[in-house]
Formats: sequence, C-alpha cells, structure tokens
Amino acid sequence: MKVATHQLRCTECGTRIAGSAVNSIFRCPACNGLYDVIYPWSSIPNGDTPASDSKLPNPSALRWLWQERRTSTMPIDQSGVWRFRDLLPIVENPENVVTLREGNTPLYDLPRCAKAAGIDWLLAKHQGMNPTGSFKDTGMTAALSVAAERKFEWVACASTGNTSAAMAAYAARAGLRSIVFIPEGKIAWGKLSQSMDYGALTIQLKTDFDGCVRILTDLVTRFPIYLLNSVNPYRLEGQKTPAFELLEQLEWQVPEHVIVPGGNLANGSALAKGFTEMHHLGLIPRIPRISIIQAEGANPLYRSLQETGGQELIPVKANTRATAIRIGNPASWRKALRALRTTGGWCEQASEQEIALAKAQIGAEGVGCEPASAVTLAGLKKLVAQGKITREERVVLILTGHTLKDSDFTINYHRNELFTEAENSQIDAAQQSQHAALRKPPVVLEADSDIVLRELEAHMRLTQLA
Ligand code: F0G
Repeated sequence: MKVATHQLRCTECGTRIAGSAVNSIFRCPACNGLYDVIYPWSSIPNGDTPASDSKLPNPSALRWLWQERRTSTMPIDQSGVWRFRDLLPIVENPENVVTLREGNTPLYDLPRCAKAAGIDWLLAKHQGMNPTGSFKDTGMTAALSVAAERKFEWVACASTGNTSAAMAAYAARAGLRSIVFIPEGKIAWGKLSQSMDYGALTIQLKTDFDGCVRILTDLVTRFPIYLLNSVNPYRLEGQKTPAFELLEQLEWQVPEHVIVPGGNLANGSALAKGFTEMHHLGLIPRIPRISIIQAEGANPLYRSLQETGGQELIPVKANTRATAIRIGNPASWRKALRALRTTGGWCEQASEQEIALAKAQIGAEGVGCEPASAVTLAGLKKLVAQGKITREERVVLILTGHTLKDSDFTINYHRNELFTEAENSQIDAAQQSQHAALRKPPVVLEADSDIVLRELEAHMRLTQLA
C-alpha cells in the first residue's frame, strides 16, 4: 500500500491535490467542493479519462487474492475492508491499519418482505453486523488508519450516534483521543452508551446534528483535530468495500437494484464508487441502480429533486424517529445526486408509519435493523408501486444499523406507544391491521404454570383465527 498511488480530486472544479495537502475541513479552497480519492487506475463517474489499461489490476487475480485472504490469520486479511486493500491503497504502511475485523457481513434473503413489497427476490446486506453495530465501521477503519499514519493525536466527529460509536471504538484501538459532538436528547441511548464505553469525550450540544457539524467545522480550523465526518473522503473508501463483498457473495452476478437510506448522503455515493470501480476494472459487466430513501421529516434531497430538479439543496428542519437520519442540511448531497444520476436510481421518502411497519416486517423475518435502515424496505414498496422496479428484478437492501442500537423504538412500537392517537388515526384500516398483526407486546403473568398454559391456549386460538 502506497500513499503516492492516490490523489484527491475536487468533485466540483476537478482540482487534484496530494492526499497530505488537504485542509482540515476536507473542502477545496477554491470552490468549497468535496473531494474524491482517485488512483491511477480509477475512473469515477464524472467523465474523467480512464488511466491506461496497463495500470489496471487484473480482475481474475483480484478475485482469487480476495478469496485467498479469507483463510489468512493476519488481521488485515481478516478485515472485510482491508481484504480488498488493492483497491484502497490509502495507507503507506499496513502496520498503521486500525481494524476490528469489520466487514464480512451477511447477506440474508427476505422472502416475506419481498412478498410485502410485490417482488420475487429480495436480499439484505446487513451492515449492522459490523463490530460496533453499524456500516460506519467500514469507513472508520479506513479514515482512522489515515489519521493514525499522519500522527494525529485527536480525532472528532459530529454524529447522530453511529459515526460517533464507530469513531470512539477505532480511536480507542489506535490509542488516539476522540471527541464526539451529538445533538442533545436526539440520539438513541445504545449509541450514546457506546461512545462513553469506548472512552470518547462525549459532548452533547444543545442543537441538532446540523448545528453540531457547524460547531465542529469551526473547531477543526482552530485546534489540530482530524475530522472524521463523511466529508473525509477516506471514510468513503472503506464504505465502498461492501459493494465488492456483495458481488463476491453473489458470485459476481450483478443485482438490478441496491437501496440505501439517506442521511448526510455519503453512503450511496461510496457504494456507487465501489460498483463503478469494479465495472471499470472488468470485475462486473454493469452497475446496479442505486436508490436513496429519506424519512419524510428529513427529506432535503427528495425535496431538492422534486422542487428544483436537483439544482440546489433545500435544507429542512429535520424531524424523524429514525434519529440516525435526522439531518436537514446534508454535506454530501451533490455526491448523492451524482450517484443517482450515474446509476439511474431514484430518491424516495417514507413516512414515520411506513418506516415503523417496514422495520417490524424485517424484524419478523428474524433479521431486525434500526429504524433508519428500514426506510429501504419502505422505499422499495413505493418504487415497486410506481412501476420503477419490476417483480423479477433482484433487489438488495443495505441495512445500515443493528436492531439493538435503538431498542426504545422497538419496544414502543410493540407496546403501541410509538405514535400518538392522532398519528394512528391518519392511517387506513388495512395499515392498522398490518401493524396489529406484527405487534408482539410482552405479556406479564403470575409465575404459575396453569396461568401460563391458559395464556398459551388463548394465544393459539387467536392466531388460528387471524
Ligand atoms: N443509516 C444509519 C443507521 C446511519 O447511522 C446513517 C447515518 C445513515 C443510514 C445515513 O448514511 O449519512 O451516509 O447518508 N448516520 C450518521 C451518523 C450521519 O452520525 O451516525 P449517510
């Protein structure tokens, strides 16, 4: 792995700089654009000329090598990110890699969710099965390894909870000090507990996520801290690797469609970069469509597309129970737009009730996920209903977070305490009965086997009737 093999290129004005020359806010000084990491062999989807073919890694050799590394006992080979390190040469010395053996996440089939959405075949790549329970680990191992190699002492992020959990864990592994900015009272407890457990300086700011980003952006220009939000393009190098792993799991058969949740809007573009690079290298013959789904209460990209055709972002005051994606002014919206356009995907939104129903349906298949991840299934249903996805197309949902990240949401849902009566009265009878069939509130009984038996019989009668 050699740092000299990569550069950063501004996504707006195309200026190229050395990785080490980037400023502390990861924005182009000339035009404020974000950067992409580029390699001599890479072609990213904005019309750049591919490098000469002689520099391209050989696809069969790569496939073989990536498989071989699975049997190795070396930490960087066991990592589901660094196993693909040939396509992310961002660290000069492999000894600087900070890994918790991230990646290697399962691909599950969801036959009942497929039926509910009206398609034949549905898979979920569960990124919640990463070491800290979210997809952020794949990006954090990459960017934090760069921070360690560049000898930073402090790392920081603003977060809705998952980035902070991941950063705190990887910083602790590397012996770096970490500062987390989270919106007070607006993140799930499981996530808050993680950053404390991993020893971060956790600062709850009396603002929302967008306010936390503002404060941190100012801070990094005044104090030598390495910024680990997804504006840091090295994060996305890690987050592109689930695309490689997915294709490997599908024996290199490209699905028609991949669906991701949208918050700060970096992940869709990271996966698009992964698919595009594989296409360019001849590992796959085409690129799947990538669609991005937002919560209705945090839908700036959706609104931007509806109201301005993607010309400008329409920031919103975000509000959704899917707190991970409670973001009104997403940094990477232009990158997300590029991913939609180059892959031919769509942006949809899902209501609070649709998100809750989808989450319960994924849970009922024994898989489970956090609310933000469930927007993917809710969005899929809409895209099928609109005729944008057809029954026989193969769709993969990216489940971004583990169900235990936000158990309050799940418990409130099953106890029927998630929504107000007014909210419940807004949905039709069919939706009400779907919810009722999925809700499994706990039953409190005396410790008496006769009573338990009677409850069981009553339960069986009820479920036979249903
Ligand atoms: N799903 C989950 C579980 C998330 O935590 C996030 C983002 C997203 C989806 C959206 O991904 O931002 O790349 O569009 N969480 C961030 C955080 C912002 O701070 O943990 P995105």
